[in-house]
Amino acid sequence: MLFDPRPKASRSELFGRDRELELLHANVDVPIIIISGIRRIGKTSLLTVFLNEVSIPSVIIDLRDLHTNYGLRDLYNLLSKAFSSKLDKLYDVLKSISGISIRGVEVEIKWRGRGSLTLSSLFDALNRRRIIIAFDEAQKLRGPRSQEFLNALAHAYDYDRNITFVLTGSEVGLLYGFLGIDRLDSPLYGRYCFNLKLERFDRDTSQEFLKAGFRELGIDVEAEVLEKAVEEFDGIPGWLTFFGNEYARGNRDIDRIKKLAIDIALGELQNIVRERGKRYAYALRGIAEGVKTWSGLKRYIEEKEGTTISPSILYNILKNLEDMSIIHNYQFLDPIYREASLRLHIDQS
Ligand SMILES: Nc1ncnc2c1ncn2[C@@H]1O[C@H](COP(=O)(O)OP(=O)(O)OP(=O)(O)O)[C@@H](O)[C@H]1O
Ligand SMILES: [Mg+2]
Repeated sequence: MLFDPRPKASRSELFGRDRELELLHANVDVPIIIISGIRRIGKTSLLTVFLNEVSIPSVIIDLRDLHTNYGLRDLYNLLSKAFSSKLDKLYDVLKSISGISIRGVEVEIKWRGRGSLTLSSLFDALNRRRIIIAFDEAQKLRGPRSQEFLNALAHAYDYDRNITFVLTGSEVGLLYGFLGIDRLDSPLYGRYCFNLKLERFDRDTSQEFLKAGFRELGIDVEAEVLEKAVEEFDGIPGWLTFFGNEYARGNRDIDRIKKLAIDIALGELQNIVRERGKRYAYALRGIAEGVKTWSGLKRYIEEKEGTTISPSILYNILKNLEDMSIIHNYQFLDPIYREASLRLHIDQS
């Protein structure tokens, strides 16, 4: 179903991404494939559909919940979860790896002590067969274990010809910064990767997507409503799906649906502010209110806060917001986040 809010798993449910699927099929033998794009653009869906179509065994490691200071045990827990879900396809290769035990339908990985597996040795062992290993939201691997992961990836790139890695990321600047393909001191420096950047739907595709989704459910929707939805959600498939699903379930008030979307985005922005500090709230709100210059934003934050802000701090805030794919050149990449930013609570104490 086109308006199913979960990531899509088959091509028939994935609208308008045939070209991207063909590109992935054509590049399946490149050692590292990178799928980037802002939140809700459809990376996980594209990845899942692609992996379901190729005949090569594959595994997706979902890193969304990996915390900032993760340790090897946390990462291995996610790996074992991913392996367990693919046990039927990977049983033979997994059972031959020392350091991995299979208990019933669960895979356990020895992460410390005698006979433990390093990431490199794990990749070398998996290399016995052709396999695709996908890390969804790979920028989450940044942190104290960065170097170890990048070294293992570089090692596998050079020696493990049977492995294709797919890395996705919604925080595009963070992902590329982490991989450092053009940074001399990165283990991945100079390695060729196939880059696929997912773009939002254009107006026509957005319209067609909504029409097809409603047609599938036998729901008639006025052209005016469709146009307003396309306008408000700016071609971002995740929001269009959200709208279609809400509308189909009986919520026929587009302003109310938009408000629900803004609440979700607001929750995400509040997490960022909680993690990084209230100056992020000032910056986001200033940009949402239309501040378009460095000096304008500096003045805005200083006015709100009653403190001067040093240029390097402001530079970092802007760079981080860009790297997280929230803004670019003082503009929001997703209009729903702009409106959510206008609701960020700012207490002037
Ligand atoms: N091409 C598409 N056709 C139909 N539905 C789509 C398409 N792309 C995305 N969706 C829907 O949009 C929502 C977001 O998709 P998905 O989770 O794949 O995106 P994502 O880029 O991985 O998002 P996130 O950055 O939050 O991980 C889901 O409800 C999914 O079903
Ligand atoms: Mg995703």
